Amino acid sequence: MVEPVSGEPVALEPMTLEDLDDVLAIERVSFQTPWSRGAFRYELTQNRVARCSVVRRGRRLVGYLCRWEIGHEIHITNLAVHPDLRRHGMARALLGAVLEDARRRGVGLAFLEVRPTNAEALGLYESFGFRVIGRRKGYYFDTGEDALVMEARLSAEPSESAAPGRPGA
Ligand SMILES: CC(C)(COP(=O)(O)OP(=O)(O)OC[C@H]1O[C@@H](n2cnc3c(N)ncnc32)[C@H](O)[C@@H]1OP(=O)(O)O)[C@@H](O)C(=O)NCCC(=O)NCCS
Repeated sequence: MVEPVSGEPVALEPMTLEDLDDVLAIERVSFQTPWSRGAFRYELTQNRVARCSVVRRGRRLVGYLCRWEIGHEIHITNLAVHPDLRRHGMARALLGAVLEDARRRGVGLAFLEVRPTNAEALGLYESFGFRVIGRRKGYYFDTGEDALVMEARLSAEPSESAAPGRPGA
């Protein structure tokens, strides 16, 4: 169990194929170019470096995070929370648990790409110590936007900023 900012415990579990209807409902309202069912299915069943986790409030699936783990690095590939439950600390609980688990297993670096206009996500990532290390020109083919490439070093000890429930940096 992980604790979101709002205090109510939420359950973090591996995503399964049975979760895909709920996941896709969130995905489609969260992104201009959502992942397809096939894309999630590939991550769950074929891609050996991929891991996806879901967060539930009670029995309701309210968010998810996918990443690739390659050697001592993880790459966050997808993260979304249902619009009704945003700003309740769900993404902070999800990302915090995933980074903490990776850190405990000796993973040293985390990477991700984010749109420069995505203030919500940038605020979240910065509060976990991610910093911009590069820019991929025209990365998002739907809008032609660049992607910011962000990196976080996962220290041997949990960093203060990675503690779930702390205010953003
Ligand atoms: C980004 C997203 C996952 C955040 O989920 P969330 O559960 O609402 O986030 P949390 O409540 O855990 O907030 C964590 C931090 O994110 C930042 N944040 C979240 N919403 C924000 C907003 N509307 N404005 C500014 N900062 C925001 C803040 O730093 C916040 O910390 P704080 O509450 O202590 O200030 C959610 O907005 C979402 O699903 N967006 C659409 C999909 C997406 O853009 N995913 C990221 C792709 S890179």
